[in-house]
Amino acid sequence: MANPAQIIEQRLQLAFDALSVGADPTVRRSDRCDFQANGALALAKRLGRNPQEVAAEIVSHLDLAGICAMVEVSGPGFINLTLDDAFVARTVAEIGKDPRLGVEQANKKKTVVIDYSAPNVAKEMHVGHLRSTVIGDALARIHTHIGNTVVRENHVGDWGTPFGMLIEHLVDLGEDEAIAELSVGDLNSFYRAARVSFEGDENFAERSRARVVKLQAGDAETLRLWKILVDQSVHYFDEVYTKLDVLLNADDVVGESFYNPLLEDVVTDLDKAGLLVKDDGATCVFPAGFTNRDGDPLPVIVRKRDGGFGYAATDLACIRDRVGRVHATTLLYVVGAPQSQHFEMVFAVARQAGWLPDTVEAHHIIFGSVLGTDRKMLKSRQGDSVKLVELLDEAVERAAQAISERVGDIDDGAKVRLAHEVGIGAVKYADLSTERQRDYVFDLDRMVAFEGDTGPYLQYAHARIRSIFRRGSLSAPEDVAVSVTQPAERALAIALCEYAPTLVEVLSISAPSKLCAYLYSLAATFTTFYEQCPVLRAEDDELRASRLFLCETTARVLAQGLSLLGIAAPEQM
Ligand code: ARG
Repeated sequence: MANPAQIIEQRLQLAFDALSVGADPTVRRSDRCDFQANGALALAKRLGRNPQEVAAEIVSHLDLAGICAMVEVSGPGFINLTLDDAFVARTVAEIGKDPRLGVEQANKKKTVVIDYSAPNVAKEMHVGHLRSTVIGDALARIHTHIGNTVVRENHVGDWGTPFGMLIEHLVDLGEDEAIAELSVGDLNSFYRAARVSFEGDENFAERSRARVVKLQAGDAETLRLWKILVDQSVHYFDEVYTKLDVLLNADDVVGESFYNPLLEDVVTDLDKAGLLVKDDGATCVFPAGFTNRDGDPLPVIVRKRDGGFGYAATDLACIRDRVGRVHATTLLYVVGAPQSQHFEMVFAVARQAGWLPDTVEAHHIIFGSVLGTDRKMLKSRQGDSVKLVELLDEAVERAAQAISERVGDIDDGAKVRLAHEVGIGAVKYADLSTERQRDYVFDLDRMVAFEGDTGPYLQYAHARIRSIFRRGSLSAPEDVAVSVTQPAERALAIALCEYAPTLVEVLSISAPSKLCAYLYSLAATFTTFYEQCPVLRAEDDELRASRLFLCETTARVLAQGLSLLGIAAPEQM
């Protein structure tokens, strides 16, 4: 189903091509008209001609009969386009009658591996994991909705030298006691206690080092103990995922240890490709184009001096696995910004080695930090990172308070459910609505507010539309003749037409924040419409049906948009 902007751009392309190929027909929403194209300016510059004349000539070639009511050149050479009302009405009717709301399935299906969340065994999940988890989850949902095959992979940190001390601590505690601690998510204190012993007790440290050697040698008893740590942690992460309403579950875990049997081949094959260099005892690859501040080439360390494999080696094996076994065509890594260079370099090595062919895209989906209200990294009073579950529980509590103040007649069970949906939705929306590259302040007061650009505001906007139907005991209008006459009605209809192209844009730059911004602006456009255009008291039945149809379609877009962000859209609030 084509949308207005897309149709206009196709027609503009033809008109541009009549003058000279290669011009950019992109249109933008504009306050002065519906859409504006400014490609004539660049084209005129290229041709060395007057931009207004070029714009006028483009317009003379432009066929938008039945689509635009008015096309005019304005300012230095902009082309202002005003849609035809009947066309807007027809298009919004098609969208509202479409179960997919105008969102087409991708015609070239991709297989998208999304690497997200990735906490570490026996370490607490903190707000950094929140960002990866909710951004990755929204991308997973939107890619799936668009018809791509999504493979979620949780690259849990479940291997490496700390496991020596963690296993020895488990032995000292006794298995039952350790399981009791870990299963309730007391990961920080477990980890900290292991560290304390390691640093204060030479005998313990010695045992830990010997334990790492046994672990790497595949000693059966050591692996059994290791597995207890992994299973308990994964079980706990799973509880957090359930609380967070994300798709991720225990089946999605493909931890670092999964790649152990593949690491030897990484080295052998890099060697065969002639890419390996010994540097100070370590085995490295120096991918082209990466240097430190002094201009010296930077290494990707494949094998450390002590013979152990590092984080980079695992990620190289992981790329081979995702391309070779999973047949991914797109790799997305939703990981914090500090790991940028790691991924750039690992991708470069994988390309050089031929493991990441040009047909496969790989992107590091970076995100900024979560700050406290003091604008510093969010920390607890003791200076630790704050437990994610505690933040989530607090958000739900705040939501429960806000709901008690606002919502009267609902039973306790429904109230509990609603508090969960609003609290979790508030946290997710605050995170997702921030452009992901930027930092944001974790401010629960602002997040759970019903006013402003918040999750609860959007949930409420949806529920309010539903209540129009509930109060009037109306069912959704079906076979209606849609008309758009009033400006606010027209604006709403055009906004609804923008839903499908917004999702395309969201995926093209992996930016859930664009969907948030769209939904927020749709809710605002709806509010103006509802203030200015009587719905239940419309002049006649036909107009009333048409306006109810716009209400219904708006509610559906809001609900679906929220669900693609992983946020519930309660019917009643
Ligand atoms: N566990 C890592 C961390 O906490 C993130 C892993 C990200 N994924 C990857 N394929 N390297 O920093």
